[in-house]
Amino acid sequence: MKVSFAAQRPEGSYALAIPVWDEDMLADRLTGFDEASRTLAARAADAQRFEREAATIAETFISEGDSARRLLLIGLGGKRDDEALYEKIGGALTAKLLCSGETRLVIDLANLSLGGAAAARMAFGAVARAWRYDLYRTKLNTKAKPTLEEIVIVGGGEGADEAWNQKSAVLDGISFTRELVTEPANIIYPESFVDRARKHLEPLGVEIEVLDEDQMRKLGMGALLGVAQGSVQAPRLLALRWNGASDPGKKPVVLVGKGVTFDTGGISIKPAQGMEAMKWDMGGAAAVVGTLKALATRKAKANVVGVCALVENMPDGKAQRPGDIVTSMSGQTIEVINTDAEGRLVLSDAMTWAQRQYKPEVMIDLATLTGAMIISLGHEFAGMFCNNDDLAVQLADAGLKTGDKLWRMPMGDAYNKMMDSPIADMKNAGAREGGSITAACFLERFVDEGVKWAHLDIAGMVWADKPGALWDKGATGFGVALLDRFVADNYEK
Ligand code: BES
Ligand code: MN
Ligand code: ZN
Repeated sequence: MKVSFAAQRPEGSYALAIPVWDEDMLADRLTGFDEASRTLAARAADAQRFEREAATIAETFISEGDSARRLLLIGLGGKRDDEALYEKIGGALTAKLLCSGETRLVIDLANLSLGGAAAARMAFGAVARAWRYDLYRTKLNTKAKPTLEEIVIVGGGEGADEAWNQKSAVLDGISFTRELVTEPANIIYPESFVDRARKHLEPLGVEIEVLDEDQMRKLGMGALLGVAQGSVQAPRLLALRWNGASDPGKKPVVLVGKGVTFDTGGISIKPAQGMEAMKWDMGGAAAVVGTLKALATRKAKANVVGVCALVENMPDGKAQRPGDIVTSMSGQTIEVINTDAEGRLVLSDAMTWAQRQYKPEVMIDLATLTGAMIISLGHEFAGMFCNNDDLAVQLADAGLKTGDKLWRMPMGDAYNKMMDSPIADMKNAGAREGGSITAACFLERFVDEGVKWAHLDIAGMVWADKPGALWDKGATGFGVALLDRFVADNYEK
């Protein structure tokens, strides 16, 4: 999608969108049209019960020379402090026009005095909502094919281009995350995940290090390798480093992602119904590489490391069994009660390695870790588990500002005890009750003294079964805008 900002409406054919606040006089927003068109637009809006609620649209065609122009009045509502309003407006417009036959959308902000940042946010929403992945469709009927190619925002004012530069970097990251999440598991498995990350990130100046199975065995990563041993796909540990801070020696923020490229459950196999969803059990790792892409694209002035634990969880003659005891890189032993609780096993070794390697002050892991998370918070908030109040506030704030919302969950000794094992240092699965919390307590056992740590359980957020304001059905790209903002607000000043 091509995006530009202009002072005047362009020549030629396009659909014209005009945003209106609930208290605006419609006539004031329709200056430049003749009387007949203004009346037509006003009557059409009434007939469609258009009341300017945020992101609602009334559609009219007005005559323009000897042809007709599609005119969309779009409501801004009445809440001027709504954090995500402008993104939603852009998203609603492209959702409506993407396959409409229109090739160009002009959004006219003249006289609204919204400023360049708001204009860039509208463009962000418009482009985010228009993303789709048609690679595997060899037959798409004409009317289902996207037509919209270009968005021009008129009257955005000062700073729109500069704000858009930053926003479009975040969109690059989100698009990459969505692509990885959308690809099936026969295409994206640990090695191909690494190849694709390399292709996208190396040209941007991100340093890449990859550990193979032998290297992980030498390091003692028994928990990660135990999960991988049932698959013909070899595991990988992928580390990405963006060193953008003015002090290259400054301790990095470390992001760790669960990258289970397919989760059958292993010997504790999942039911067939819906199992295809487990192709996106690498959504945490995808958010980590997408964030690094965003940061490197906009040349963020911060040091950030991403670590992805990449494995496939399969049942097999060689697969690990319930009851097996594995020794993690930290030295702690784990009784594998349920081979479907594999995310925590691979994360534990990735976290230990990341801490030994980079000595971070802050470590944030992202994982589609538990079905229980979806039971508690649904698809509105990801669960946040955190050992530091300041970090929790910073993350929750970035969440509110980007729409990638986080809700803090409790932890504590009573929950932690539920993961004790009678035969090893801990077990990987306990009772069903509080399943997301006990999973977080398991992970906390691998956090070193003094490290500020947050675990984001994004199981309910990676994939959408219905379209949202900024995405169609499918991959959402959750986490990229959040982490980009978290870094921008706390590590680039
Ligand atoms: N990847 C799943 C969690 C999941 C389920 C994510 C549904 C997204 C949608 C995870 O590996 C898993 O299977 N967790 C188990 C843990 C249990 C065995 C302790 C779960 O949630 O049932
Ligand atoms: Mn599982
Ligand atoms: Zn899983």
